Amino acid sequence: MSTHHLPGATVGIIGGGQLARMMALEARRMGYRVSVLAPRADDPAVPLADLWIPGQLDDVEAAQRLAESADVVTVDSEHVPASLLSDIERLRPVRPSAAVLRTIQDRGEQRRFLERISAPQPRCVAVDSVAELAEAANTVGFPCVLKSRHAGYDGKGQAVIRSADQLEASWEKVGRAPSMLEEFVPFDAEISVLLARAPNGEMRFYPAAYNVHRRHVLHATMAPAPIERSVEQDAREIARSIAEELDHVGMLAVEMFLVGSKLLVNEVAPRPHNSGHYTFGACATSQFEQHVRAVLGLPLGDPSLSRPAVMLNLFGDLWRDGNPDWMPVLSRPEARLHLYGKTEPRPGRKMGHVLLLDDDPHRALQNGEAMLDSLAADRSRNQWSSPTGSKRAAGTRLSPICIALKIGAFSRPATRKAARRQLSSTG
Ligand SMILES: Nc1ncnc2c1ncn2[C@@H]1O[C@H](COP(=O)(O)OP(=O)(O)O)[C@@H](O)[C@H]1O
Ligand SMILES: [Mg+2]
Repeated sequence: MSTHHLPGATVGIIGGGQLARMMALEARRMGYRVSVLAPRADDPAVPLADLWIPGQLDDVEAAQRLAESADVVTVDSEHVPASLLSDIERLRPVRPSAAVLRTIQDRGEQRRFLERISAPQPRCVAVDSVAELAEAANTVGFPCVLKSRHAGYDGKGQAVIRSADQLEASWEKVGRAPSMLEEFVPFDAEISVLLARAPNGEMRFYPAAYNVHRRHVLHATMAPAPIERSVEQDAREIARSIAEELDHVGMLAVEMFLVGSKLLVNEVAPRPHNSGHYTFGACATSQFEQHVRAVLGLPLGDPSLSRPAVMLNLFGDLWRDGNPDWMPVLSRPEARLHLYGKTEPRPGRKMGHVLLLDDDPHRALQNGEAMLDSLAADRSRNQWSSPTGSKRAAGTRLSPICIALKIGAFSRPATRKAARRQLSSTG
């Protein structure tokens, strides 16, 4: 079997979401064919595919047909069943492998793996019943975070528990499913390290990204992250050992909490990642091209950052009155609009993102926030009210992300603490 595949070959992708779409865009640009297994004709990657195989992501027979149509198979989500991947590994190279997905897709297995390789992580305990949850809370302490072991994303299947009287309700909230209870980490910053690893073990690292989440969902990413070089170096070493110990092939994202100068691994994603969308436009080689290169066994591309960048997610809430007027984005020369072609905007659904390139990423973030504010204001003139019911005049409020950036990783502990209080009160 050849170890690399040149243009003209076919990349098979199980999953048809925005990650698959952006992989397909890059693969096609490079002259590859793309097959996509996805349930619906209007899934984001389907219009970009040369061949669409309709099917659910656990449909073994459809996955076999996909494998037969392709030279290599990859996934756009870690939730494709590992058993299905082992079935098709007999037919074609599958990257990431079934073994990698088996370790990652169960948060309990993932935590055990991280422990085995001595990666630093929050205190955590596996729980299978409400009685075990109560016992685990004694070990982990309050506040803590309960996360279902399977199929979580964008904060789904999670509950923050502040006191013992919330245990029962939290257990209900995660669907009474096998879960992990983790200590709540009072982090100063969230960062992610993205790397690509080739079948021969070669690796390329992207500049670490600084991430701001709102209600447990990624809101914005800044690159390069405003962190000290030594911290970035430590973060890379942690990510490197995870990729090597997994024997991973493809893009890998490691989300980490930064507390002082200490890093703790939050979670690992064996694929291109939302916090790496900035690379698509800001780096010589995007994370999507890099993933395609890695799974095809090609030499890896140059990950270097051409210009500092900020990425802001666009959620379905902006569509509440129809398509937004994109002029505030399109009229700014430093802004690039990415829309995923999703036909059903829903509140909280990721519909696209905006990338801003600016030598001053803090200014880019402020401009990006103002851009989002004007998109939201335009959609909701005369009807929008803040969660407290008071009308918000555009530009009068320091947005949480600006506060987050002003505190940054370099601020004094007391400043960070005060800012954290302010952040949680602004949501
Ligand atoms: N143990 C924790 N302590 C503090 N915040 C947390 C913790 N776990 C998760 N969060 C917050 O919730 C976000 C989403 O959680 P994560 O475990 O990454 O799940 P998902 O798979 O939904 O991304 C994190 O990026 C972070 O902002
Ligand atoms: Mg996450």
